[in-house]
Amino acid sequence: MKILVTGGLGFIGSHTVVELQNQGFDVLIIDDLSNTSLEVLDGITNITGKVPAFEKLDLREKNKVQDFFRRHVDIVGVIHFAASKAVGESVENPLLYYENNISTLVYLLQELQKKEEASFIFSSSCTVYGQAEKMPITENAPIQTAMSPYGNTKQIGEEIITDTAKVTNINAILLRYFNPVGSHPSAEIGELPIGVPQNLVPFITQTGMGLRKELSVYGDDYPTADGTAVRDYIHVVDLAKAHVIALQRLLNKKNLEKVETFNLGTGTGSSVLEVIHAFEKVSGQKLPYKIVGRREGDITSAYANTDKANNVLGWKAQSTLEEAMASAWKWEQKVRKAK
Ligand code: WQD
Repeated sequence: MKILVTGGLGFIGSHTVVELQNQGFDVLIIDDLSNTSLEVLDGITNITGKVPAFEKLDLREKNKVQDFFRRHVDIVGVIHFAASKAVGESVENPLLYYENNISTLVYLLQELQKKEEASFIFSSSCTVYGQAEKMPITENAPIQTAMSPYGNTKQIGEEIITDTAKVTNINAILLRYFNPVGSHPSAEIGELPIGVPQNLVPFITQTGMGLRKELSVYGDDYPTADGTAVRDYIHVVDLAKAHVIALQRLLNKKNLEKVETFNLGTGTGSSVLEVIHAFEKVSGQKLPYKIVGRREGDITSAYANTDKANNVLGWKAQSTLEEAMASAWKWEQKVRKAK
């Protein structure tokens, strides 16, 4: 069974390729290499001993997408990661996001609808909930007006898939990630942000390595236990395993609806200060940080109600925040030593 992983050399994509290979799937990766490098292919191979097939492809080129599917008629499932994902950048350059995150999804689905049947796993995000009223957040929480074009592309993407699945042989599962963190325990693959990290954990590990002077904590005046914002930090390997389980659910026709939605989190909220303390504990070093003003567009709190993922999907996150931070730190040290 050949599985296509778009964006398969990215952070979550590469970890998912490893888990797919571990389960015996024949994996084909496409990636435009805009936010990653071919070295990730070696990292994957070093872990699994199997070299995944790879083709460099920009999904915005419709004719190349059509040609690709003509050459690979044996693809039975797609896990679609390929997208731009920087919230701030999406505000500055919305059309880049609408083209790269929406047009590409349409071209992919236009090819999949030609097949007898197709299983489609979509990388969505808890960002579709905005600031949810009730914690923990269930899949029935209302979708609120997106806080950024990036978040809007996830909402629109879910709608496009839902409308398409209704009238085609495509079955889909929408996976709404909370905050993916950490790295594979082998330290062969991990998060490798280009430039100044926007996300908390890579900024912490780079500060720990002395690459950044200090972490800026964006606000300590939130209505939370310690005043800093709360998120649900989920280990990327746990997240990757959920993708394989979701794909197998569709391939084995266990899905109850044409489109199913699952929140993927640990179910536990952690504040920024708690993440800092977890890092200090696992690294044995103090992290230099300063409290600054809130970041535009940030919400106070988001963490998942994981009942549906646990009971229906049959998946549960295994790693703790400290284990995730330890893996992120091990990866950062390995990457910097290699430089
Ligand atoms: C986490 C917390 C910040 C950096 C975004 C997207 C989401 C997903 C993950 C793509 C917040 C605080 C951060 C820093 C800080 N992206 N922070 N100092 O914003 O929850 O989610 O990234 O799929 O869709 O919305 O993640 O890691 O940026 O921030 O204090 O230097 O850390 O304010 O409270 P976020 P994040």
